[in-house]
Amino acid sequence: MTDRYTDYNNWAWLYNETVGPDYSQPQLNLLKRVFLPHIPDQGRILDLCCGTGQLIQPLVNAGYQVTGLDGSEEMLTYARQNAPQATYLLEDARQFESETAFDGAFSTSASLNHLMSLTDLRQVFERVYATLKSGSLFVFDLNHPGQLKRWWRGQPTEGEIRRRYAWMITPHYDPQNTEGAFIVKIYQAGHPPEGLGQILSFLRRLLYKILSHPRFIGLRLKLLQNFNRFEPHWQQLTLTYPIKGHSIDAVKDTLAQVGFTNIDLQTIDGHSEIDNNHSAHFICTKPSSVSLTNASTQANNSIA
Ligand SMILES: C[S@@+](CC[C@H](N)C(=O)[O-])C[C@H]1O[C@@H](n2cnc3c(N)ncnc32)[C@H](O)[C@@H]1O
Repeated sequence: MTDRYTDYNNWAWLYNETVGPDYSQPQLNLLKRVFLPHIPDQGRILDLCCGTGQLIQPLVNAGYQVTGLDGSEEMLTYARQNAPQATYLLEDARQFESETAFDGAFSTSASLNHLMSLTDLRQVFERVYATLKSGSLFVFDLNHPGQLKRWWRGQPTEGEIRRRYAWMITPHYDPQNTEGAFIVKIYQAGHPPEGLGQILSFLRRLLYKILSHPRFIGLRLKLLQNFNRFEPHWQQLTLTYPIKGHSIDAVKDTLAQVGFTNIDLQTIDGHSEIDNNHSAHFICTKPSSVSLTNASTQANNSIA
């Protein structure tokens, strides 16, 4: 039995305020373009690795019946608050079962890069295949090796300083073993300062406010790298999230072995050529009629 993936528990409150909302709109645009046109009115949708569920409420508002699945209890706590009418499954993506047969499934923001082997990824694909109705779509995105090699270079890429907390993400990747990780540093303010400390704190906050402008991202990230010199009393937490750079061809082969067909690739902007500046969005179908070659796969995967 695989342990449920719970690594996002400590990041959940912050993810819900920052990255979750920030990433959701472009993902929603892609779903509107390639996924929702294939879902019947009021159809059933699985958001696999739904995180804090920022994509779910707009889909519920549009009339769909959405189930969000995630391994992290804390992420689901926020998803339940953000989209209370949806159904939630606290499960690992490698071994979930659902009594619902879905009209489509998706997984966004490179969640599946956390599956560290093709065997694990295949297990996820098998579970999704088992839970989809015939003829339904599965859409997901992955950060691929060329992109990871180009951009995940051990330098901070994102970060913010807000009134009571600050955070910074530093991704790195080793092309030799095709593994990497991103490190999330979180700082949280303690008691508000008193006396002269109040004035100095006010001045620092002014500086942070100026640096929050997108134009000053470089300076902001530099400051964040030395943040405990500026705010020695803020509590610091370092979280590490390992990822695997699965090759696009290996992922396509694995999808085909599981039985998915019409496997197509797009960037988030809809280009069919995947370059090193973009992640790869996979769009594939569980076929309507199952051929003899993959009939045995499907039999193994049917819902218990
Ligand atoms: C980068 S977040 C993406 C969340 C959401 N899809 C979004 O676009 O904001 C990755 C999510 O995948 C979940 N996750 C990763 N591996 C998982 C697994 N094996 N089973 C269940 N959830 C998993 C994490 O708990 C986390 O909530």
